[in-house]
Amino acid sequence: MDPIAANRLNWDDRADIHLRNSTGFYGIDAVRAGDKRLDPIVDGELGDVAGLRVAHLQCHFGLDTMRLARRGAIATGLDFSPRAIAGALALAAELGVSVRFVEGDVHHAATLLDGPFDLVYVTWGALCWLPDMMRWAGVVATLLTPGGALYLADSHPAMNALEQQGERLVLARPWQVPIEAPFSYNDPTTYTGAPDLLTHTQTYEWAHSFSTILGALLAAGFHLDFLHEHETLPWSAFPMMEPAGGGMFRLPTSMPAMPLAFSLRATLRLSAGSGKGATIASRSARQGP
Ligand SMILES: C[S@@+](CC[C@H](N)C(=O)[O-])C[C@H]1O[C@@H](n2cnc3c(N)ncnc32)[C@H](O)[C@@H]1O
Repeated sequence: MDPIAANRLNWDDRADIHLRNSTGFYGIDAVRAGDKRLDPIVDGELGDVAGLRVAHLQCHFGLDTMRLARRGAIATGLDFSPRAIAGALALAAELGVSVRFVEGDVHHAATLLDGPFDLVYVTWGALCWLPDMMRWAGVVATLLTPGGALYLADSHPAMNALEQQGERLVLARPWQVPIEAPFSYNDPTTYTGAPDLLTHTQTYEWAHSFSTILGALLAAGFHLDFLHEHETLPWSAFPMMEPAGGGMFRLPTSMPAMPLAFSLRATLRLSAGSGKGATIASRSARQGP
């Protein structure tokens, strides 16, 4: 089966389980109570979104889309999972939040969404589902008005290569994979701790190096406003991780610190499109210094 189609079936299963909210992982109750706080990393960096046309890509069931709308954004969420979008629409109607949700693959966002947008918002657990950063960056650029910006926060490429074995973190997978050779996983349950079994367990994920992500954005006509690395993450990626306050998690203080997340804002140049000279080379260890 096509990897994206397999992932969509899996995300439909997950959306149903996440919307049941049995473990409270997604903070649905707080949003129901009127909360519009984003996680501390995003909250500290995003700035004022009031009046901005915002496209929230891979919005899942739209909690952040609704939080952005409550902060005054004209927000549209896009996700390829019909179950997630149905849940988002139902929740927005229940809470009376004025927001749009569109079902579809992010690769077709330019034709599915009524742009242009001032801000494209992409956060947490998004890039690993996308095969080709050059293609994705091109889609993001097409959605934006010149001078518009991408805000991106996701897990750190260095952390994504690690896995906890016993009390140690070990290098468990390559730092990047070719488009045609994604990681193949078969997990019976989702990451929220809910015991519900997934019907569609097969997923395909990609690892992208920093140079691939940044190089794709530069080539698509963006300039980088900031790039930050963080020692915290809004989920516990390894069993050893400890709460860091504000719903964030960090490595135990007995471990050497390392970046677990990164975030950036990139603005589409007014004359975007040429991308000339805007590349960052990705070097594998085999190439040597
Ligand atoms: C870990 S969740 C991201 C959570 C999200 N950032 C939020 O605001 O809660 C990953 C999301 O990506 C979506 N997704 C994965 N591949 C996609 C694609 N090709 N097109 C659109 N959505 C996709 C999934 O349906 C899922 O909702």
